[in-house]
Amino acid sequence: MGHDAFMDPFSSKAHFLLYEICILTIGSYGDVTVTVPNILILGTVGQPLLLPANYTTGTKDHNIQITWTFQSQSSGSMLLVTAVNNTLTPDMEHGHRFFLSPPSASLLINPVELRDDGEYTIKVTVSGMKLASASRQLIVQVNVPVSKPVVRSDPAWGAVEYVDNATLSCNVTRGTKVIYQWLKDGKPLLPSSRHIFSSDNKMLFISPVLKDDLSNYTCVAKNPISMNESEPIAPNIYYGPYDLMVKSEPRFKVSEGVFTAGKGEPVWFKCSANSNPPNVYSWFQKADNKTTPIQWGPVLNIKSEKVPDKADYMCCVYNNITGKRDETQFTFILSATVIKEELYHRSPAYYTQAHQVSEEREPPVDDYGIYEFVAVPEPAQFQQVRPEKLKTVYDIIREPNAHTTVYEVICHSPKTS
Ligand SMILES: *[C@@H]1O[C@H](CO)[C@@H](O)[C@H](O)[C@H]1NC(C)=O
Ligand SMILES: *[C@@H]1O[C@H](CO)[C@@H](O)[C@H](O)[C@H]1NC(C)=O
Ligand SMILES: *[C@@H]1O[C@H](CO)[C@@H](O)[C@H](O)[C@H]1NC(C)=O
Ligand SMILES: *[C@@H]1O[C@H](CO)[C@@H](O)[C@H](O)[C@H]1NC(C)=O
Ligand SMILES: *[C@@H]1O[C@H](CO)[C@@H](O)[C@H](O)[C@H]1NC(C)=O
Ligand SMILES: *[C@@H]1O[C@H](CO)[C@@H](O)[C@H](O)[C@H]1NC(C)=O
Ligand SMILES: *[C@@H]1O[C@H](CO)[C@@H](O)[C@H](O)[C@H]1NC(C)=O
Ligand SMILES: *[C@@H]1O[C@H](CO)[C@@H](O)[C@H](O)[C@H]1NC(C)=O
Repeated sequence: MGHDAFMDPFSSKAHFLLYEICILTIGSYGDVTVTVPNILILGTVGQPLLLPANYTTGTKDHNIQITWTFQSQSSGSMLLVTAVNNTLTPDMEHGHRFFLSPPSASLLINPVELRDDGEYTIKVTVSGMKLASASRQLIVQVNVPVSKPVVRSDPAWGAVEYVDNATLSCNVTRGTKVIYQWLKDGKPLLPSSRHIFSSDNKMLFISPVLKDDLSNYTCVAKNPISMNESEPIAPNIYYGPYDLMVKSEPRFKVSEGVFTAGKGEPVWFKCSANSNPPNVYSWFQKADNKTTPIQWGPVLNIKSEKVPDKADYMCCVYNNITGKRDETQFTFILSATVIKEELYHRSPAYYTQAHQVSEEREPPVDDYGIYEFVAVPEPAQFQQVRPEKLKTVYDIIREPNAHTTVYEVICHSPKTS
């Protein structure tokens, strides 16, 4: 008794919950109750599929009949299998794929096919003192798992930023009721003014492409029973040149765009700019009002005993697909190593004196080494005595007696000099 009294509140509560859960899935009439745990059953083509069902009857019943019928738009209504007591009467047409093992009321379909999509009804009838029956319905959805999606990028050779559009299309060879989703670097890609999706989401249209679009894209294909993801694809986007700069060893740098080294010191400059495809690099030397192409390639090596005391150098970068170019210029001044070493040990007073000396000698054409080093501690003074900046190649182009053709030639082929 004590035990029962203890159990009672718990079990009645559990029964109440069970009742709540089952209320939608129980069909009952008279003494018969049929229970199905799930209304919706998802099947995979080619696999066995179980449609679970249970029933309870009153104790005095004699004959128990279980019947499964199927109904779909394409095939109408048909009897699948029936059993009286524990004796099975399979339907001659469908019996080879639909199995019932009474007293269990669950139906096994093996293997399940796409045409098995539809509504199933289980009906249990008892005849004893009186006749009673109950039935329940289930919905079966059969799908083919999605194969690995394949993404194609169009145009395949690549797209020029700000000019071209690109289309990514996703396709699967197998799969039913497939829905598609796009990921950019693993994160869902949302539509925007430049990113448009087709109504079925199989296509992503980017118009126009930007360097920003350079990412790994994946297409996710899913249906109610499966999900598969494509290999990442990074569309080829042509861009640049961007972020053009020239570097050298820090010890040669005097200020922004000005480098110096002692005679005889080997000096290198490295030009870099971000672009796809890689830039074509060319170097020019400008001295005595003359622009001379000197070499191809990102690195310029100067043999300082062979160069003018002061010259402007220019790195010209050209992207042969986007057709865009950029250039940057810097000044290289040769100084006698002796002077440089002495200067490091001089007092500030000496700098002032040396500065005055160099200013008196206007223009300081033949002693660049001294005036540059004097200028180091005081950038403002340096600006004062800095000689007029040489013209850039673009200035030359803008002049009426244009050297345009010369520039075009030298920018493409320094070797023609
Ligand atoms: C049917 O009832 C039995 C006993 O109550 C239970 O073990 C089984 O899980 C039930 N099956 C279904 C499909 O509800
Ligand atoms: C079914 O079983 C009940 C009780 O076990 C029995 O009375 C009845 O005759 C059986 N019906 C058939 C058709 O075998
Ligand atoms: C994705 O599809 C391939 C075949 O195309 C298959 O081998 C693989 O198991 C699938 N992956 C998943 C998670 O379904
Ligand atoms: C890119 O798409 C836009 C419309 O979205 C169109 O006007 C434009 O001509 C397309 N550009 C190219 C290069 O196809
Ligand atoms: C997608 O794949 C199917 C089946 O392989 C094929 O019939 C269809 O043409 C493909 N669609 C595209 C846009 O490639
Ligand atoms: C794509 O992913 C690979 C591997 O994680 C990575 O090496 C590559 O840089 C990525 N490409 C882009 C454009 O983000
Ligand atoms: C464009 O530049 C790249 C990289 O320097 C080079 O490999 C390619 O041959 C060039 N193409 C043309 C058409 O000049
Ligand atoms: C360079 O050109 C300018 C004007 O174009 C001229 O005044 C100057 O004398 C020239 N210098 C040399 C070294 O030829």
